[in-house]
Amino acid sequence: MTENTTAFSAIEWTDAGLRLLDQRRLPGEDVYLTIEDAPAAADAITKMVVRGAPAIGITAAYGVVLSARQHYREASHDWLSRVEGDMNLLAAARPTAVNLVWAIEQMRACLRVTPVEPVEVLLAVAARIHREDIEANIRMGAYGENLINKGDSVLTYCNAGSLATGGYGTALGVIRSAWSAGKLEKIYACETRPWLQGARLTAWELIHDRIPVTLITDNSAAFLMQGGQLQWVITGADRVAANGDVINKIGTYQLAVSCRYHGVRMMVVAPLSTLDMAMPAGDQVTIEQRPDNEVLELAGQRVAAAGAAGWNPAFDVTPAALVDCLVTEAGVVHAPDREKLLSLSNAQQPDG
Ligand code: MRU
Repeated sequence: MTENTTAFSAIEWTDAGLRLLDQRRLPGEDVYLTIEDAPAAADAITKMVVRGAPAIGITAAYGVVLSARQHYREASHDWLSRVEGDMNLLAAARPTAVNLVWAIEQMRACLRVTPVEPVEVLLAVAARIHREDIEANIRMGAYGENLINKGDSVLTYCNAGSLATGGYGTALGVIRSAWSAGKLEKIYACETRPWLQGARLTAWELIHDRIPVTLITDNSAAFLMQGGQLQWVITGADRVAANGDVINKIGTYQLAVSCRYHGVRMMVVAPLSTLDMAMPAGDQVTIEQRPDNEVLELAGQRVAAAGAAGWNPAFDVTPAALVDCLVTEAGVVHAPDREKLLSLSNAQQPDG
């Protein structure tokens, strides 16, 4: 098993089912839920028990194992169509992160060639997806760290760490590597309203690993840049379109605009499983809309004036032109565009 390099695992397969660290309850409580069937896995994704593009892909892959285990062992004559129904349910759990359908497609391909006794074979595929995600993150951590100069300060957004992936993290993987190399002066994290992934999860995760972090409100970022105290913004992605547009947590776009204005570099760290060459451009991606009460409330308490409406897109689109570099496990793409991503993706094909 690949070393996770953090002391906790947000996703763990056990014989009893899939153990998920309930991210809704962090940082207050470390509570694990045991997920026993695919509808429960889909529900955990929708309700953000588990979140982050690679992590929801891995969860969906294990969800397919749970489905096959249930339906094949019940020996129902139509077990395959029931698993197909569960895969559709899982794929619909959150629409924006491409890793979800990417992982389910791998499970579907495995099912096609495994018509009998599928459970162990599917479990091996899900475990491989999980392991390879950690390996990719460690590689991206090293590539990204190479771009950072000693004494640089960085700002990260949302949570693109161990909690959001199989382990180690994408953006936080780069920050972990750069911190271990002694390069970072200061690490800032935005709170990331409305769900507070930065305040609750990124801060928890870095402190857990004894990496110092300074939290800022989302509306402090441009002022921090104006003061010349920042060299990099480093984020993950939920999907990278074929032209290099980056779909990520709502607010990433405004950070990228501010970066360009202030001469701060924008690094997006995402595995190849997040690259969607079938999606021509970011403006064609379905952006998940979440309930308005997430904006109108804070920690379940209404803070907005009665009568105010909310608008709550979960993600936004950062045009490729605002991204200085895209770090993948296959290397760094500077100023990503359609041509560069096409050659990156062709080079990953078996005969590439
Ligand atoms: O709504 P979330 O918390 O799932 O959003 C997560 C992000 O936007 C992450 O940056 C992205 O999924 C990459 S995680 C490695």
